[in-house]
Amino acid sequence: MRLPDRVQIREVGPRDGIQSERAMVPTEGKVALIDALSRTGLRLIEAVSFVSPKAVPQMADADEVLARISRNPGVFYSALVPNRKGAERAVAARADGLQVFIAASDSYNLRNVRKPVEQSFADVAEVVAVAREAGLPVEATVSTAFGCPYEGDVAPRRVADMVTRLIDLGIGAVSLGDTTGMATPRRVVEVVEEVRAAAPGVALNMHFHDTRGTGLANVLAALDLGIDSFDASVGGMGGSPFAEGSTGNICTEDLVHMLIDMDVDTGVDLDALLDAARLAQRLISGELPGKVLRAGPRWQVAGPVAVEGT
Ligand code: COA
Ligand code: ZN
Repeated sequence: MRLPDRVQIREVGPRDGIQSERAMVPTEGKVALIDALSRTGLRLIEAVSFVSPKAVPQMADADEVLARISRNPGVFYSALVPNRKGAERAVAARADGLQVFIAASDSYNLRNVRKPVEQSFADVAEVVAVAREAGLPVEATVSTAFGCPYEGDVAPRRVADMVTRLIDLGIGAVSLGDTTGMATPRRVVEVVEEVRAAAPGVALNMHFHDTRGTGLANVLAALDLGIDSFDASVGGMGGSPFAEGSTGNICTEDLVHMLIDMDVDTGVDLDALLDAARLAQRLISGELPGKVLRAGPRWQVAGPVAVEGT
């Protein structure tokens, strides 16, 4: 198997995780979580989203969160935005970069931002303009890139066409979002190959949700394709508030734990990350799905059992 030497992980728990948490997480809890994550060696954190507080009440305090975190100069704090207003709020709050999102299927886009995909391209263009003006990098996430909870399969060709249009609009890097966990290793290969054929050299990130247990298998398929950038959420927290039965992203500690054993460098300190996961667990109502959080790392063993009677 071909493996990259180094993988970059963007921690999205503070945004993708917390946005769908039922119980309101207080601002200080969000700040504490982001600060704990900032001390783990993670270099990219999607800290907040600037969306309508009516659509996502949990992110209503995004400005305050960014104002109160203790910024580690080695960490890039990005913000997810859907439109010009979100981009302007993110710039005012001193986000380090913007992540704009657009779905590959009209049904999901309508549910998520209340307009068809075609109209969202105009929003992307406006977000790019705001980012340029502010001198900030802007990347895009194509949601439902591996399937839509309403429409089913999404043609890889459609995803590829969207990626080329996003690049033409000035987007630097594209994240392929498996928003509701419909990707499988086979579909990862199909979509990535189609996208690369249409947009050779495009910087790709994978945003997998582990809704159907294929999360880390999808990572493995992507690694074999040379993908070296992944989104993950601490403890595996999250899910989309816009899709029934959805669950969290692939779990950051589980991903780091697997990559350590594969000699792939992430720069992340697993113990510090597990501390952050325990903090995340205290902030949310349910039990986090992270596996290493429960079982401990594979090298943490109880010690040999003494053989008696010899
Ligand atoms: N931040 C804060 N408020 C915003 C906003 C933003 N980025 N964009 C729009 N608004 C406000 C408008 O100012 C307006 O406020 P008003 O009622 O006080 O005048 C109101 O929201 C409605 O604006 P409109 O443009 O008609 O938006 P809408 O009601 O059609 O909603 C979105 C569209 C995109 C703003 C909303 O659906 C949204 O925020 N969705 C995000 C969903 C999300 O976060 N999904 C998870 C990430 S994948
Ligand atoms: Zn997501």
